[in-house]
Amino acid sequence: MKIHQISDRIYAMHADIKSDDLFEGIWPIPYGVSLNSYVVKGDKIAIIDLVRDWVGAPGELAGQLASVGISIKDVNYLILNHLEPDHTGWLKEFRAINPKVEIIATAKGIELVKSFYKIEDGLHAVKSGDLLDLGDGVSLEFIEAPNVHWPETMFTWAPRDGVLFSCDAFGSFGALGDRIFDDEFSDEEHVFFESESLRYYSNIVASFGLFVNRAIDKAAGLDIHVLAPSHGMVWRRDPSCIIERYSRYASYMEGPREKEIAVVWGSMYGNTERGLAAALQGIEDAGIPYSIHRVPNDDISWVLADAYRSEGILIAMPTYEYRVFPPMAYALDIFERKHIWYRKALRIGSYGWVGGAKKEYENAIAPLKWECLESVEWAGAPSDETLQLLYKRGKELAKAVKLVKAE
Ligand code: FEO
Repeated sequence: MKIHQISDRIYAMHADIKSDDLFEGIWPIPYGVSLNSYVVKGDKIAIIDLVRDWVGAPGELAGQLASVGISIKDVNYLILNHLEPDHTGWLKEFRAINPKVEIIATAKGIELVKSFYKIEDGLHAVKSGDLLDLGDGVSLEFIEAPNVHWPETMFTWAPRDGVLFSCDAFGSFGALGDRIFDDEFSDEEHVFFESESLRYYSNIVASFGLFVNRAIDKAAGLDIHVLAPSHGMVWRRDPSCIIERYSRYASYMEGPREKEIAVVWGSMYGNTERGLAAALQGIEDAGIPYSIHRVPNDDISWVLADAYRSEGILIAMPTYEYRVFPPMAYALDIFERKHIWYRKALRIGSYGWVGGAKKEYENAIAPLKWECLESVEWAGAPSDETLQLLYKRGKELAKAVKLVKAE
């Protein structure tokens, strides 16, 4: 990868991570992820956000710095917008090479520098409105943006060039290759990155929608020419595109959402699957689109992304040892953690001796405040009457989704 010039004083560096490792130890990244880092040059030099030692990322960054004549020892300031180790894992080694580098973060960020990296000196806590003068007319301003998505997060603003360094906010999964700017990607590639930005948002940031909106409000007060997140592309042609996208994602938490149904299903011997087919026919005939994921076959990362944006949810699962089908219990737990609230919902499924999942299911979804249609459960294989009822209930779910007002 090469370094990219944002302005005469600002460069973007990035390392593409392509690995079977899971992001945060949970989320697959089959299309990779970029770790972005930035250089700002006045008389002094600042680097904004680092990388972790992952698939050679530190060496990649050091090489990109060297390509513009900067060595690690030349760097005066390390600005850490966010302390999660994907952006700071290299910190201790970087500091060992350059013991004089000053480390800048919010007060909470400084606490994490101490606890994660056992560094105690050369630390400077900043708050909103504080400025860092790099000399030669270049300065940086700090803007606290807590809980996007950790408590210590902040933005760094470069007023001379109108560049906002937003760390995880406005980021995306997906490796970039040798391009980094939004105007270097085709429409088709933008469709791909939109899908990966929603998956990133729903997996990483979704629980903090309120704080994302506050951060967006702060960004709205700035004359942003370039939006530079720590994952995904740098937006210089149209920064408003990713801001509007994030604003829409944040709205999915309380609504409105897309008039779609996320179907999440599991089946042991095909009886729930047969019943599901009838419900899906009802949804199709009512003209509402749906996404569909089988658990545990499909990874929860994609299940969550589709559930996050959809107004309706259809849960289809068999009773398992008198209880909720275990992979569905995991999915429901993730839905609770990621605030999949206020959906129109339907549960269907087959049982052997007795339908025992009802109580556990209702307990699991109680915090989600779903508006539930009457469930359909049947013993063994679905009868013709049951199939007709499932068709009808599928149609009712689709109609309930259709009737939700777009606010
Ligand atoms: Fe990209 Fe929350 O770290």
